[in-house]
Amino acid sequence: MTIPTPSYNPMDLTGRRILVTGASAGIGRATAVVLARLGARLLLNGRDAGRLEETAGRLEGQGHAVAPFDLSDLEAVPGWVKQQAADGPFDGIAHCAGIQTLRPIRIFSAGFFDEVMHANLGSALALARGLRQKGCHAERAAMVLISSTAATAASPGNVVYAASKGGIIAATKGLAVELLSDGIRVNCVVPSIVETELIERGKQKLTGEQYEHLRRLQPMGFGHPDDIAHMIAYLLADTSRWMTGSIVTVDGGRTA
Ligand SMILES: NC(=O)c1ccc[n+]([C@@H]2O[C@H](COP(=O)([O-])OP(=O)(O)OC[C@H]3O[C@@H](n4cnc5c(N)ncnc54)[C@H](OP(=O)(O)O)[C@@H]3O)[C@@H](O)[C@H]2O)c1
Repeated sequence: MTIPTPSYNPMDLTGRRILVTGASAGIGRATAVVLARLGARLLLNGRDAGRLEETAGRLEGQGHAVAPFDLSDLEAVPGWVKQQAADGPFDGIAHCAGIQTLRPIRIFSAGFFDEVMHANLGSALALARGLRQKGCHAERAAMVLISSTAATAASPGNVVYAASKGGIIAATKGLAVELLSDGIRVNCVVPSIVETELIERGKQKLTGEQYEHLRRLQPMGFGHPDDIAHMIAYLLADTSRWMTGSIVTVDGGRTA
């Protein structure tokens, strides 16, 4: 008689409650699909309720919900997290929300700086403050932030975005140590160019030659949102239980 082997999946997320930001598009949407397939129960955030519902409609499993909210409202974020945790503490956050607008430094403005910094960096810090609150996180929880190779290699015409993403790397390291005693691991993924709407919008401002140049930056070509989603899942699951403060590059060989 053969004894059935219990299925082994160290990335199993069954029963885990995870907040996915940026879930209405691109990497966040792909991440939601992957995490749900691994068994997680998701709270989907973005600002566009219709597109969040569209993501929810693609998810496997039960118990998912949508929570439209503007994460640039930094003062309100911790209270919003607390409110959402009334349905159960979070086992993790995949913070995929972000904005990118190519803008050369000659047209730099304080308003643009505030907009990008709030959406990309401030939101991450405010979410960290929210997650560490009593009752908002499970005994062991994980937070995954997204930086960009724009922060680690020159990104002309894009320096405010690059600076916000450099801040994410610095924040990951500091938060990892600061939140250790709360049982929260904090890690960061550094993608190169992945084909999402964010890139589609930027593409409209580029010549065919410039677009081709961007594609060739990655020896393996542009990434697919799943390439980042899989790493995010790894960093949320027990597969990464001995990792915190790690900056993980997923870039199709760009920085090889
Ligand atoms: N695509 C790439 O090549 C690439 C490369 C490196 C890093 N990244 C980073 O990866 C992350 C995801 O990028 P993506 O390409 O998936 O972008 P995307 O397709 O443009 O999606 C961005 C997501 O962020 C949400 N969002 C933006 N501002 C928000 C706010 N204030 N409050 C709440 N949600 C907000 C959007 O939701 P709503 O529109 O519903 O508000 C949307 O769901 C970003 O942090 C980006 O910087 C992307």
